[in-house]
Amino acid sequence: MIPRSVSLFFFLLFLVPEIASAALMARPNCAETCGNISIPFPFGIGTGCYMNSWFSVDCNKTTADSPSRAFLSSINMEVLEISLEGSLVRVNSPVISSGCSGRGSNIAINMTGSRFAFSPSNRFAAMGCNNRASLTQIKPEIVGCTSTCDANNLTSSSTGGKGSCYCSGNNCCQTTIPSYLQVFNASLETAGYPNDQGRDQCKVAFIVEREWSLDNIKSPEAVQHLQHVPAILKWFVYNDDIPEGEENSDAMKCSPPLRLITSRWGLSTVTLYSNSTTCSCNPGYNGNPYLLDGCTGMIRARLI
Ligand SMILES: *[C@@H]1O[C@H](CO)[C@@H](O)[C@H](O)[C@H]1NC(C)=O
Ligand SMILES: *[C@@H]1O[C@H](CO)[C@@H](O)[C@H](O)[C@H]1NC(C)=O
Ligand SMILES: *[C@@H]1O[C@H](CO)[C@@H](O)[C@H](O)[C@H]1NC(C)=O
Ligand SMILES: *[C@@H]1O[C@H](CO)[C@@H](O)[C@H](O)[C@H]1NC(C)=O
Ligand SMILES: *[C@@H]1O[C@H](CO)[C@@H](O)[C@H](O)[C@H]1NC(C)=O
Ligand SMILES: *[C@@H]1O[C@H](CO)[C@@H](O)[C@H](O)[C@H]1NC(C)=O
Repeated sequence: MIPRSVSLFFFLLFLVPEIASAALMARPNCAETCGNISIPFPFGIGTGCYMNSWFSVDCNKTTADSPSRAFLSSINMEVLEISLEGSLVRVNSPVISSGCSGRGSNIAINMTGSRFAFSPSNRFAAMGCNNRASLTQIKPEIVGCTSTCDANNLTSSSTGGKGSCYCSGNNCCQTTIPSYLQVFNASLETAGYPNDQGRDQCKVAFIVEREWSLDNIKSPEAVQHLQHVPAILKWFVYNDDIPEGEENSDAMKCSPPLRLITSRWGLSTVTLYSNSTTCSCNPGYNGNPYLLDGCTGMIRARLI
């Protein structure tokens, strides 16, 4: 009961300090965190701490009294959270806008050859009147949506709308994006509805994680003011990044990240990118599979 688990805790704490160090998520002598963000290998701060330059994190103090912020210089994005388990990284994704101060009305992203791709758990959203937002350069398709204030205005749609009814075209629209995008050009333009209200007012568009609620956002200016919104990237390593012979052991395994596609013949799986792989500790082990001997057996550790 409680006293027993407390004594087990102290036993582990005092008698087997090796266990604590085995749980390291960064390389030895490398920073484990930047501000309040954990930086597990293959990510790292400083030479010798990351697997390769794709995973190099700059940990920068932006103002004296705020926590340090983490930036992935290889793709020029700020990191909000890194997950080893799902091979995901939450980043700050830019908001494009027109008719209000801030970033311009398009942004071209090209992460070809990088170890990152936009996960399918994001959506593309736009707000404002007379606003046609699109993702181009994702051949053969074009993805986009049109946000208008024709039938309704913001007041009626934000007070009358509920849940999924909100952000369905009235001053706000959204659409799913193709899985694992690395290259696209996000842009917005006037949709060409001459009677639309406020057609010269602030318009915005952005890729944002699905979980981020649009319901509480009252106006495009409110999003534009944020400059960035959270989005989820999948990350992976290449086969060549994993030292020969270390891809598989009792403790861990590496396998290509798979995705489901809808083909003419139904659902099928394809490898995300040629030579890409992600690693995990096997059941009964935990730790960081990307570090040398990084997966440690929980049972063996207790018996030491
Ligand atoms: C870090 O701190 C900020 C501000 O306090 C908070 O919003 C954020 O969720 C924290 N991040 C993590 C990964 O805990
Ligand atoms: C973070 O600091 C590094 C090194 O001083 C600098 O090169 C980089 O531009 C900075 N990044 C940001 C986003 O401030
Ligand atoms: C993206 O970058 C790759 C390599 O850096 C280049 O070959 C390709 O043409 C670029 N694509 C676009 C659409 O700019
Ligand atoms: C928005 O719609 C509401 C309800 O339909 C109406 O009362 C209000 O006057 C409209 N506002 C504008 C700016 O048209
Ligand atoms: C992105 O799209 C916009 C609008 O179509 C266009 O003006 C811009 O030149 C494009 N950018 C690139 C890099 O292709
Ligand atoms: C995949 O790996 C093989 C062997 O290392 C290499 O020859 C090939 O160029 C790689 N392909 C890509 C797309 O990187």
